[in-house]
Amino acid sequence: MILSFTLDGEPRTLDLDPGLRAVDVLREHCGVTAPKEGCGTGECGACAVLVDGEVRLSCLMLAAQLDGRTVTTARGLGGAGPHPVQEALADRGGVQCGFCTPGVAVTAAAFLERHPDPTRAEIRDALSGNLCRCTGYHKIVDAVEDAAERMRKERGGRK
Ligand code: FES
Ligand code: FES
Repeated sequence: MILSFTLDGEPRTLDLDPGLRAVDVLREHCGVTAPKEGCGTGECGACAVLVDGEVRLSCLMLAAQLDGRTVTTARGLGGAGPHPVQEALADRGGVQCGFCTPGVAVTAAAFLERHPDPTRAEIRDALSGNLCRCTGYHKIVDAVEDAAERMRKERGGRK
């Protein structure tokens, strides 16, 4: 099957088995290793990407489901530079081994698009599907709060 989709702002066309898993298409056939495979069964969130702006677990998607879509990984999340969530994760110590970070970043970025001024409880709930074995989550939540503030300021500056 010929698959055509946009990946991190670049058009991709590949001739692949439509039954491949999307995480393998991205990592092995496109060379984009931002999505990680932690569990392969939809439980850890490490493989999360945005598909047409919605958070999707790429380990549970088939290659055919990428066709015609716009896919954004943590690699392309901020466009030319890091996204405010990624900056805040780095600044606030929300990254230790980094394995969960790409999934956390895309999930938090999508959440903040819809919830620009969330409570800590809302942030924690939004990230409940992203498992982190290192940070204890506190610094990740700090970072997402910080990112929300950065994004509100950016938006305010654009008015
Ligand atoms: S690898 Fe997809 S949810 Fe864990
Ligand atoms: S920073 Fe290591 S799993 Fe989250």
